[in-house]
Formats: sequence, structure tokens, C-alpha cells
Amino acid sequence: MQKRVRKAVFPVAGQGTRFLPATKALPKEMLPIVDRPLIQYAVDEAREAGIEEFIFVTGRNKSAIEDHFDRSFELERSLSEKGNTEALNAIRELVLEPGQISYTRQQSPLGLGHAVWCARHLIGDEPFAILLADDLILARPGCLKQMIDLHAEIGGNLVAVEDVPREQTDRYGILDVTSDDGRIASAKGLVEKPKPADAPSTLSIIGRYILQPEVFEKLSTAKPGAGGEIQLTDAMARTIPDIPFRGLRFDGKRYDCGNRAGFLEASVAFALDRPDMTERVKAMLKKYV
Ligand code: G1P
Repeated sequence: MQKRVRKAVFPVAGQGTRFLPATKALPKEMLPIVDRPLIQYAVDEAREAGIEEFIFVTGRNKSAIEDHFDRSFELERSLSEKGNTEALNAIRELVLEPGQISYTRQQSPLGLGHAVWCARHLIGDEPFAILLADDLILARPGCLKQMIDLHAEIGGNLVAVEDVPREQTDRYGILDVTSDDGRIASAKGLVEKPKPADAPSTLSIIGRYILQPEVFEKLSTAKPGAGGEIQLTDAMARTIPDIPFRGLRFDGKRYDCGNRAGFLEASVAFALDRPDMTERVKAMLKKYV
């Protein structure tokens, strides 16, 4: 039996430079897709997967995220006085139980690996999930739930993967695949953002991970990798001799909200997916194409 995955880390310290000026005063994770901020989709996906503890690795200018997941007494009172139960439920539902959320700060922007390492004491000695809110995934059940169900059977380290065009390998962590049954791939190595000509495959890591705590030891002694940053991919690669590393081609569609076009596509896809909006959005899109 594998230990149950109860905790999830949300690295949200990035500066969001690709979305300036929108992200000058607003964390990029608070940019909305339809009517919820990106980070809420990630938190909801984790809740659906049975996660009980939510650990945010934040940075400067990120207090809007804390406010978002907190109660808002004034707003609740005024909505309740107006009898606006729909809006009231929408803000009440997103608040987690007291003590379920913790925040720790990544004091310097040293990379994703370093951000995850900042959460080491809050995770302790158990397997945990990582969700990168930039990768927004439309899936039923959610991507993390699919992964947690599989992880309960096979354990090890598990990431979500997707095949990408070869010219894009330099945007992702890439698996050096040993076996692949079309759904689950095993890897003997990982490379962060290889040039297309050097990439060992085109199977790329998407921002969902379930990792054994041993990765923290590797992160403690990590050296800067691609882009001069402490890379999570490098630390995961160093666990491979001891811990099986697998990628799951999840059922669902992933949107890269780390760039403007991907963000816009996600907005359209998520609006079309909302039964109360589908027809209106379709009619609207027809006007433009
Ligand atoms: C990070 C990881 C990379 C992974 C990607 C998924 O890169 O370092 O391995 O493939 O997320 O979105 P970033 O997008 O932060 O550059």
C-alpha cells in the first residue's frame, strides 16, 4: 500500500513578467479565466483529488492570493443582506477549513526546485503533490485525481506528461523514456528544456507532480541548471536510480496559461465548457471567424 497523498504545494512566487503590465500589482495567479482566478482552478483540482493541506510558496506582492482564500466578512454580510445567495455561495465555497492552508515565502527567485524546497518542513516525510497553476487542465475527473488514483496502485514518482512538437522541447522538462504503453511511460532520465536536437524524446512534463519526499535531499544539494536556476527536473532525475519515475498521459486538455495566446484559448475553452455560457459564447465567436 502506498502512503496517501494528503499535501500539495503551489509554487506562486513567479513574477509573471510575460503578463506585464497586468501583473504589475496583481499576482499572475489571480488573473481570471471566466470568473475565477487561475490559482482557484488548481486548488479546486487538488480538493477534488482529496488533498487536505495546501501549501503556497509565495513571494512579494502576493497577498491578494491569501485574501482570496480567506473569509471576507464585510462582503459576506452585504451579499447576505441583499439576499444574493449565488454570489455568497461562490465566495463561501472557495474558503478552506482553518489551518488547511499555509504560506511560506521564497525569498529569492532561484527557480522552481528552490521554491519546492522551501516547503520541505511543511511536507515532512510523505509523498506530496505539486500543482503549477499556469498549466490549466480541463479534465473529468481532474488531472490530479487521475494521478492520485494511479499513484495509489504504483507509487514512485509520477508526473503528468504530454507529447509536444519537437521544436518546443526547450520549454519543458523532457523524459528519457525506457518503456511506454501509450498511457504510462517510464523514464531513466530527465532533461530540463533541451534544445530540440538534443531532446531524448518529445514527452514533456506538465505542471502536475506526485513526488516522494526524497526529492528534498536532492534539492538540498542542487546546483543551478537550465537558465541558471535550481531545477526541480534535475533533482527528480537524481532520484531515478532509487525511485521509479513515470509519466501519465492524462485524459483531458491542458492550456498553457503562462503565455498570452494559451491564456486566451483557455478563457474561450472554459467559457464554452460552462453550460450557462456555451451558446452565447459560440454565437459571439462566430461573429469573429
Ligand atoms: C516548469 C518545469 C518544466 C515543466 C513545466 C511545465 O517550467 O521546470 O520542467 O515542463 O514547468 O509547465 P516553467 O514553465 O516554469 O519554465
